[in-house]
Amino acid sequence: MKLAAVAVVAATAAVAQNIPSIAWGFASSAYQVEGAWNVDGKGPSVWDHWFLNNHSLVASKGAGNPIAAGDVFKTAGHYDRMKEDVALMASFKSSMYRFSVAWSRIFPQCNGQVNQKGIDFYSRLIDELLNAGIQPVLTMYHWDTPQACEDQYGSLLNRDMFIRDFTSYADVLYANFGSRVKYWLTFNEPAAYCGRGFGPVSDAYIWPPGKNGRESDKYNCIATTSIAHGAVVQLARSKYPQYEMKFSMPLIIAYYIPVAPADVEQANINTLSQGDWLWGSLASADGDYPAYLKTVKTGDMDGSLLPAFTAAEKATMKGTLDYVALNYYSAQYFNGVSGQSAPTLTIKADQVPWQSAYPGGIRGITQLMARSYGPLLASSVGGLAPVMVSECGYGSISEAFGPISQSVNDVDRQAFFEGITAGLQLAVVEDKTPVFGFLAWSLLDNLEWLTFDQTWGLVHVDQQGGTLERTVKQSANKLAAFFAGSKSPIALAQPGSKPANSTVSSSAPAATASGAAVTTANPTATGSPSKSSSSIATGYSVAVALFSAFALMLV
Ligand code: NOJ
Repeated sequence: MKLAAVAVVAATAAVAQNIPSIAWGFASSAYQVEGAWNVDGKGPSVWDHWFLNNHSLVASKGAGNPIAAGDVFKTAGHYDRMKEDVALMASFKSSMYRFSVAWSRIFPQCNGQVNQKGIDFYSRLIDELLNAGIQPVLTMYHWDTPQACEDQYGSLLNRDMFIRDFTSYADVLYANFGSRVKYWLTFNEPAAYCGRGFGPVSDAYIWPPGKNGRESDKYNCIATTSIAHGAVVQLARSKYPQYEMKFSMPLIIAYYIPVAPADVEQANINTLSQGDWLWGSLASADGDYPAYLKTVKTGDMDGSLLPAFTAAEKATMKGTLDYVALNYYSAQYFNGVSGQSAPTLTIKADQVPWQSAYPGGIRGITQLMARSYGPLLASSVGGLAPVMVSECGYGSISEAFGPISQSVNDVDRQAFFEGITAGLQLAVVEDKTPVFGFLAWSLLDNLEWLTFDQTWGLVHVDQQGGTLERTVKQSANKLAAFFAGSKSPIALAQPGSKPANSTVSSSAPAATASGAAVTTANPTATGSPSKSSSSIATGYSVAVALFSAFALMLV
């Protein structure tokens, strides 16, 4: 282990002059930061409804922790402090920001009447970002379904109605923001909301809408999500081709680190299968799951339970993934084939229970994704798929209880991001992996779904005192220092661009994925991510050429 650490330091020093060209910044989601849940015409989401009706659930977790002091209806108060928060990001010279739109701000009743004040808020946010030189990345769905969709027809368990309404919502977003937002994310981490909102889980894990019943409901929710993704990407391509919007679906994937060469193939299957049950159908040439999945069982996914798609559903989905959007938090060693002893991952005492942080894994996992999806995506360059790290962060359970001085001097988070940036630099500069965006989770301490007892922000928010005052943590300064001088490979749109003419275009739905003869993201076709990458490209000049070509594809 010591030797490996020395090698990484030496390699990092060698490439220190070559700051990777990455658009970088922070990620957030509406429900977790905005507050203002019933302001300016917004309707309740399933999360608002949950807390309005089950507040004791939150309070019961409050004994001895600051949750009672945090206000689930204010969270970080971003709705009222939007300009201050954008100015904060500009002060770090960040060049990308991922936020989500609360569907129930746009359609308080799920469908029907548009709430103009909701449109206006996000329109102001987008212009504020563009004026600050920050690329907006818009998530369309980060778990906060309008409660009205749930009340009217059971939301994600009613496939036709859900897709109809999600498509109408998408249409409104494209018409209003499509000229200014190039990077779109449809559904964030479907396994989380489908599993915990609809699948059979124990009480402590239940999330709204709390319909936890049959295992098949979780899989139906996942399938509805994939088809809805396909439908809204097809809409964007057919009705708003002039905007050339690019789409992905952010998935959280834990990296299996092969311990020995014999472990590589199965470790890669374990890693890739976490994404393939969703991305597989969107990236494949035929719109179906990769065949190998049927016999795989990992984590949240049992391949034998995946519902079959109709021919029309497959046609809707195929070729609708433009880039890989990876939420990277955790890793684990895999020695299941070789049986060789695995190093122990150091888990810090302040880490949240589910995260096993291994920052160096960013190098291997981005390379694995770029290589595996490279043959499948039309936007690949040099056989490699473009990758956005759409979330990456370090959660602390002790900061929430401690004094602000401890929060600000967030040593473990700083160490995590130091490892991440060292790995990213090697990934981009050495391996030529086309990572074009990196988003730290999260700008602000916020509401971590059912709790306030975990903090993920690189900026402290005074939730305990209730002032919501922002104080920069040292991790934010360090991250900004690393990326200082990094050039974003992506052109910005103009603020205030006019909304589209919403006449239906007659152009055909967009092309499918590349004509490559590959029909699945074949895990066994990928190389060892832990090996030297000399087979991908040779020399820095090749990397620059490749990267520029790739950036052009995206602009
Ligand atoms: C991923 C989710 O997208 C985000 O909402 C959550 O806060 C982070 N993980 C940390 O748990």
